[in-house]
Amino acid sequence: MADQAFVTLATNDNYAKGAMVLAQSLRNHNTSKKLVVLIGTHVADPVRQVLNRLYDEVLVVDVLDSGDTAHLSMMKRPELGVTFTKLHCWTLTQYSKCVFMDADTLVLANIDELFEREELSAAPDPGWPDCFNSGVFVFRPSKEVYGKLLTHCEEKGSFDGGDQGVLNSYFNTWATEDISKHLPFIYNLSSIAIYSYLPAFKQYGKEAKVVHFLGKIKPWNYTYDSKNKSVKGQSQDPSTLHPNYLLQWWELFSSSVVPMMKESYGNQPFLTGCESVEEVHEIASKVHSQAPLPPQISSKERQQQWEQGQADYMGMDSFDNIQRKLDSFLK
Ligand code: UDP
Ligand code: GLC
Ligand code: MN
Repeated sequence: MADQAFVTLATNDNYAKGAMVLAQSLRNHNTSKKLVVLIGTHVADPVRQVLNRLYDEVLVVDVLDSGDTAHLSMMKRPELGVTFTKLHCWTLTQYSKCVFMDADTLVLANIDELFEREELSAAPDPGWPDCFNSGVFVFRPSKEVYGKLLTHCEEKGSFDGGDQGVLNSYFNTWATEDISKHLPFIYNLSSIAIYSYLPAFKQYGKEAKVVHFLGKIKPWNYTYDSKNKSVKGQSQDPSTLHPNYLLQWWELFSSSVVPMMKESYGNQPFLTGCESVEEVHEIASKVHSQAPLPPQISSKERQQQWEQGQADYMGMDSFDNIQRKLDSFLK
């Protein structure tokens, strides 16, 4: 149906990687629906080019930020104020019905049957099952509902500082009114659910149709060894999604998305997370226009840490640090 679409949001280049894998996974499972991505103004041109290849519509939207640091800090997710931007999806009135999917979701099978559901259908949130998780939901674009949602934000705010709080308090009969609005959990399977109830995952996990990499650490925060087909730096703590799904994300990203990124970036240096340590050094050495940061440890030790998959992802070797080096080179 031309007037039905999957919709996602990527306000920056990192979430755009998630959006690329999401689109590729939907296409790999032969969706008949249109694909639409809402992006922020800061998404880089080469990234937009790849999104244009994978999506039927790439729409630049104003980023809406709740600025609700109090509630967001309760979730320890200060960066999620921008999820208010998701509400723009109700303005897509060129479509009669849409399914919103977070950019950190991965589709494992054809899910076009979701369009048989009505607004507002969603799966239970693993943290509080009388709330729905707003990472996957069915809705009908409407300027009237859009206006009411914005008024709701202004008058009532969000109990979690993000879109999920607003949507649950606006669509506040979800928990009790109509069970057909409850999507089966297999349409929004998150890591928390896997580890908090492992026997259920063993029993039902094979039916999973959508995996949701819910939480602070996203697939793109890891690095991938394409030779050994393994994800590096994968922490062993329970919040890590089932290793198989993370590997599937990276296999799809490296096999289908990275080649498109290489075409778009041309000879501009960029990092995908699939590079070997040598390749990263090569790219970083091309980039350093400023004196390299004084290493807290010797480069030999850093190389050893990288090779053991223990790079300081959240600190010196963080993607943002390397991206900053690349950006300074590009400037
Ligand atoms: N998002 C975005 N930029 C951000 C944060 C979030 O575009 O800086 C979008 C993206 O589609 C993401 C969704 O908002 O998937 C919800 O954020 P996230 O998935 O990180 O929340 P979680 O599911 O981990 O609670
Ligand atoms: C939830 C959802 C996510 C939403 C966020 C902020 O955990 O997974 O989609 O954006 O909280 O409300
Ligand atoms: Mn998410």
